Amino acid sequence: MTSLERSADGGTPPPLRLEMRSIGKAFGPVVVLDDVGLSCAAGEVHAICGENGAGKSTLMKVLGGVYTPERGEILIDGKVVRFAHPAEAREAGIGIIHQELSLLPYRSVAENIFVGREPNRSGVIDRAALRAQTLEILARVGSSIDPDVECARLSVAEQQVVEIAKALSLNARILVLDEPTAPLDSVESAKLFKLIDELRRKGVALLYISHRMAEVFDIADRITVLKDGRRMAVLPAAEADVDTVVRFMVGRDVSDFYPPRAQTLPGEPVIVLEQAGNEELDGVDLTIRAGEIVGVAGLESSGKIALARAIFGDLPFTRGTVRFADGRGAPRSPREATRRGIGYLPDDRKRDGLGLRQSLRDNAALTLRAMAGAFMSPTRQARSHAHIDALLLRVDVRAASFDLPVEALSGGNQQKVVIARWLALKPRLWVVCEPTRGIDVVAKAAVYRILRDYANAGGAVLMVSSDVTEVIGLSDRICVMAAGRLVAQLAADASEETVIAHALQSHRTLGEPEAMQ
Ligand SMILES: Nc1ncnc2c1ncn2[C@@H]1O[C@H](COP(=O)(O)OP(=O)(O)OP(=O)(O)O)[C@@H](O)[C@H]1O
Ligand SMILES: [Mg+2]
Repeated sequence: MTSLERSADGGTPPPLRLEMRSIGKAFGPVVVLDDVGLSCAAGEVHAICGENGAGKSTLMKVLGGVYTPERGEILIDGKVVRFAHPAEAREAGIGIIHQELSLLPYRSVAENIFVGREPNRSGVIDRAALRAQTLEILARVGSSIDPDVECARLSVAEQQVVEIAKALSLNARILVLDEPTAPLDSVESAKLFKLIDELRRKGVALLYISHRMAEVFDIADRITVLKDGRRMAVLPAAEADVDTVVRFMVGRDVSDFYPPRAQTLPGEPVIVLEQAGNEELDGVDLTIRAGEIVGVAGLESSGKIALARAIFGDLPFTRGTVRFADGRGAPRSPREATRRGIGYLPDDRKRDGLGLRQSLRDNAALTLRAMAGAFMSPTRQARSHAHIDALLLRVDVRAASFDLPVEALSGGNQQKVVIARWLALKPRLWVVCEPTRGIDVVAKAAVYRILRDYANAGGAVLMVSSDVTEVIGLSDRICVMAAGRLVAQLAADASEETVIAHALQSHRTLGEPEAMQ
């Protein structure tokens, strides 16, 4: 029973740890937050929901001292506070795990957690103490990451854990998690929820942003819904349902979320893998045909991303055979893959090199231009402009102007720019990793529609996703990966339990190589 439920029973009302009152924030002429209020009690998990661009992250950045609001006030434990700098918010006990992770890539885990406040002895960093304290804090979050490893070498999920450990080491009493599960698989997410539950019991006030409705209802006590910078509702989770929240978010019902599956039989094989393998993959047999969407599920370490990268030429196959429709073998580089009509959507848009300072139009046009060569006549450039703009509209990018730099877009809208970029190439086979990471319900439905239309027009899709629900909802066929192997191929109507069971069964053998024969 949570503290808020206790208060509803008539017990002592829990103290409000945080209150944000009438917050107003604009960027130039654009009002992003308009009279927004938000409160969170000690021991409460308060979810914030809203479409891409609704203002969720901005509200959290106001709380974290990143932005100064033009209006409104913030109270912690009933006292008004003002933050001129993120460091002041940190000192007041606010920890924020931002949507875009921000660890220093070439520093170690320990250095990242204790940056600027490393334990020292007469002015020299005490390495032994640093390591010991890092181990202690990592143990608190149930992690066995090596404190000395460089953060660049960690998976996104591990980086997430380091960010949380860092916030906890600062004794955060208010912890903000801005889409923490977007890069996590079901096992990692479950671990995070356990951790959240422990923090809640210790009296931390938790603010939780997510586009995954099921998990919001699993862990939240209350849900605040934002739309276009305004607060539409505050709902006790126990009294609300997904449809209600979505209606407040979007202003209408969202029906036919997943488009109907392929009505015709798939066509010719676009790629055939036989016993294909390399350092991370082993004995993969897989055929993908024109007109079908093949979904790949699996845990973080299952090899599902390795499979995607290998097909795209980003990781060589060293065993078995690979045949493409063009009669050739596996591409030897992403560049060759792109030339041969293989599209890609990377799982981490930061690594895909979205030029954050460049306009969204330039970003969307990037791959196309690279393929067309460095020179383009002014007429072709104008035509490609119109083409790119049409694509950006089709993927439903919400921005005041396509000339804005990408960094001014909300996270979900950035993802849509990457999708447009690859769609522009009209690939024959499209390998998409985590296509809806960080995307809201409406945009998700739009992305599913785009992928299905693309398949219906004869394209072949290999979709890798850690969101099992979407793998089942969208795919014509489901592959499950575990320990570098394709352990199951299931029909589209497989249940979530079946998919997860296959993914987990072999996962257990991962730590015990002797059992892998
Ligand atoms: N630095 C900035 N300059 C100009 N506009 C900005 C800036 N940061 C955010 N915005 C705009 O403010 C609005 C709210 O953005 P915010 O990032 O808060 O959305 P969000 O609710 O977190 O969305 P998402 O679910 O996509 O992460 C968007 O329209 C965005 O384009
Ligand atoms: Mg956001």
